[in-house]
Amino acid sequence: MNNEFPKDFLWGGATSAAQVEGGFHEGGRGPSHLDYLKHIPFAKREGKNLMQITEAEYWENKKQEEQANLAFRRGSDFYHHYQEDIRMFGEMGFKTYRMSIAWSRLFPTGTEKTPLKEGVELYHRIFKECHRYGIEPLVTMIHYDIPAYLTETLNGWENPKVIDYFLNYTKFLIDEYKDEVKYWLTFNEINMICWCPYLGGGLFVEKSHRNRLSCIHQALHHQFIASALTVKYAHDTAPNIKIGNMTQRSQYYPLTCRPEDVFLTLKNDQFNLFFNDVMVLGEYPYSILQYYEEQGITIDYVDNYEAILKAGTVDFISFSYYFTSVVNSDPEKREPVENFVKQQKNPYLQHSDWGWTIDPMGLRTALNVLYDRYHLPCFVAENGLGAVDVIAEDGKIHDDYRIAYLREHIKAMRDAIGDGVELMGYTTWGCLDLVSMSDIQMTKRYGLIYVDADDCGRGTYRRMKKESFDWYKKVIASNGQNLE
Ligand code: BG6
Repeated sequence: MNNEFPKDFLWGGATSAAQVEGGFHEGGRGPSHLDYLKHIPFAKREGKNLMQITEAEYWENKKQEEQANLAFRRGSDFYHHYQEDIRMFGEMGFKTYRMSIAWSRLFPTGTEKTPLKEGVELYHRIFKECHRYGIEPLVTMIHYDIPAYLTETLNGWENPKVIDYFLNYTKFLIDEYKDEVKYWLTFNEINMICWCPYLGGGLFVEKSHRNRLSCIHQALHHQFIASALTVKYAHDTAPNIKIGNMTQRSQYYPLTCRPEDVFLTLKNDQFNLFFNDVMVLGEYPYSILQYYEEQGITIDYVDNYEAILKAGTVDFISFSYYFTSVVNSDPEKREPVENFVKQQKNPYLQHSDWGWTIDPMGLRTALNVLYDRYHLPCFVAENGLGAVDVIAEDGKIHDDYRIAYLREHIKAMRDAIGDGVELMGYTTWGCLDLVSMSDIQMTKRYGLIYVDADDCGRGTYRRMKKESFDWYKKVIASNGQNLE
C-alpha cells in the first residue's frame, strides 16, 4: 500500500480576504456585505438599509457585541503586512497559499465595467511575493464577500443580474492573472447559502417575494450558473489553469443502525453531495428535484441551464473539513450540542472549545466518499483547530493541541492516499490568525502565526511564530513523513 504524499503535493495554508485583509477603506475599496455583518440587528431596529447607516451613527448606537465588527474590517491587516506574512509562509516551506480576492477592491459596487488600478496592482504584488518564495497561489474568486451595493440594491445572488456582474469580474481575473495563478476556486463553500443565506448569498430572505427556501435555491442556481460560465471561460481562455469547486463537507453518521437513522443519514448525504453533483457532473440530481417538489421550492431556471452546467464542470474537488455530524431520526430524542453547528452529540468524539467535533477518521471517510463518486483529484482546502492561544511566561505560544489536531488529520489524509484517493493538496485554515467567520472574533484562533489583535480590532498586529509553525515546517520538509 503506497501511502506517501505525492512528490508535487501542495502543502500550504488558507485565508480569505474578508478575514485577513483589512484596509477596508483604502485603495478605493468599496464596502463588502461582510463589512456589515454585525450591523444587521441595528439596521433592523432602525428600519434602515445597511449602507444608509453612517459610521458616526453606528458608533453612537454601538453595543458591546456589535463593536466586534471592527475586528472584521481590520482583519489581520494583511493589507499592510502581506510581505512579512508571505515571507513567513515561505519560511515554513509552503508550496501553495490559498487566498481570496475581494471583489469590491477591484469593482467597488460590483457594477463598474473596469476595475480599480490600485486593487489590480495590489494582487499583482501579492502574487509576485508568493512566487518569490516558490509559492503557487490558489485563488478563491469569492469567499462569501460580495459588494454591499449588490446586496442592498439587488438582494444579492437572488437577482440574475449578479451573474453578469460576477462574470465581468471573473473574466477580468482570468485575463489579468492567468500567467501568475495556476489554481483557482470559484465559490467558497457554495453550500453555506442554505444555512446562512446572508453570509453565503448576500440574501435578506425576508425581502424576497419568494418563500425562504425558494429564495435560497434561486440564488444558489444563479451561483451555479455563474460558476459554470466562469469555468468554461477559464478552460477556453487559459488551458494551463486548473479550476475547482469548494464545499463545506460534513460527513454524516447515523446515531444507530435503526433503518430510519440510516435512511435519514443517506438523505442528508444526498443533499450535501448535490452541490458537487451540479459542479462536477453538471446536473441536478433526482433527489434534489424531488426535494424541491416536496418542499414547494420553485426555481426560475436560467435559459439553457442544462447545457451551461454540463459545459462548465470543474477540474478538481475541494472542500473544507472541520467536523462530522450525527443524524438522529427521532426528533424527540435529540441531544443537541449548543454551538453554531448545532450537532447531535457524538459520544465517541472530543470537541473543540467551540463544540466542533474532532474527527480525523471522518476526513479519511470524506475523501473516500468524494473520490469514489467523482473520480477527480481532491484538495483539502480548509482544516484546522479554532482555539484560545495564550502567550506563556517564556514569551512563546505552546499550541501543542493544534499540533496534535493537525497531525491526526494529516495521518488521515495519508491513510486516504493508501486507500487509493488522488489527493492534490492541503491548506490548513487560518495559517495566519484571522477573524473567525461564525463568531466574528479574534479569540478563536487557527493560525500557525499569531497576530496581536483583539475582538474589537485593537492591538499592534505584530506577528509571532507559534510552536506549530516549526512543526509544520518539518512536516512540509519531509513531505508529510515526519509528523513528530
Ligand atoms: C469555513 C469558512 O466555513 O470555516 C471560513 O470558509 C471560516 O471562512 C472557517 O473561517 C472556520 O469557521 P469559523 O467560524 O471558526 O471562522
